[in-house]
Amino acid sequence: MTSQVPLVVNGKPIRVTRGEVLLEAVLGAGIAIPHDCSTGQCETCRVRVYDGEIDAMGTQRGDTVLACQARVSGNAIIEFDAVPVPTKIAGRVSAIQPLSPDVLEVTVSLARDFTYLPGQYVKCMFAGSPARDYSPTLRSDGTANSDELILQIRRIETGVVSAQLGNRIAVGHKVSIHGPFGSAFHRPGEGRIVLVAAGTGWAPIWAIARASRYREPRREMVVVAGARDPRNLYMRDALAWLAGTGVGHVVATASGQVAEGVRAGRPTDHLPGLRDSDVVHVAGSPEMVAAVEQLCREAGATCHADAFVASPTRQSFKDKVFGLFFRGGSAEPSSPSASS
Ligand code: FES
Repeated sequence: MTSQVPLVVNGKPIRVTRGEVLLEAVLGAGIAIPHDCSTGQCETCRVRVYDGEIDAMGTQRGDTVLACQARVSGNAIIEFDAVPVPTKIAGRVSAIQPLSPDVLEVTVSLARDFTYLPGQYVKCMFAGSPARDYSPTLRSDGTANSDELILQIRRIETGVVSAQLGNRIAVGHKVSIHGPFGSAFHRPGEGRIVLVAAGTGWAPIWAIARASRYREPRREMVVVAGARDPRNLYMRDALAWLAGTGVGHVVATASGQVAEGVRAGRPTDHLPGLRDSDVVHVAGSPEMVAAVEQLCREAGATCHADAFVASPTRQSFKDKVFGLFFRGGSAEPSSPSASS
């Protein structure tokens, strides 16, 4: 049975067809709604359902659903945050420098200013290579110009893209940027903000942490960042800055032999007990993200993490598995957050 039902989108009433995919229904009414993959992978289209009948089609998280999967069942009221409209912009690599044995900082100078929200990601295509998703971030000292993107990329020997950094992809290399995308961006709020990162998942977390300290300096914050190898804890200067601004719970972890000031274990081993009022952002390996999401579910906390989509490396399945990472700087899977 098809019938028209009322839907309120960010306060604007429209009429849509019962059973229609929410994203298509809203776009069909002429309302721009953030989206990217349209396949339930990227999280860009996540919207809040304040009231009414929306079939989440298995995508419900708290009071939110993925609009590209959910269907309209009846009257409903939905809302989503205003985000920058995705655009395409050209650029060139202007610097590549090591942050740690495995992680590179790649600076892309753009043809014009580019706007994104801290924690969002972009699709980055180095000329001649497949696109990869990275979260733009800030340098360790907090700097970044509005006409440049600072990327943190984990170099993988078998990576289709990352292995070329510093080789075929050098200073002056052409880059195409498309974005921004993603829903795991910083939102000023009341509850404690808990930031959890592993590896180059630090990229979006650092952007969010910095934004929060400047925009809401009195908001309580917890930061836990880890790496398997303590030599890859390239974020230690940034952690020191956060501690210096008054963040009381700042922890660096490593799975290997620990160094001074580094705790042994994974980030999840050093999280405080979560509260239902907490707002958690997590980026890193899929396993760690899943573990933190589970802790959030148990505590009733709000969790933000953009999902990832694996992209192939040049080698075996084993290599692919160990290359996977949620968005951030990236390892080499593609998606919001990881890369190769
Ligand atoms: S557009 Fe819905 S998850 Fe990507």
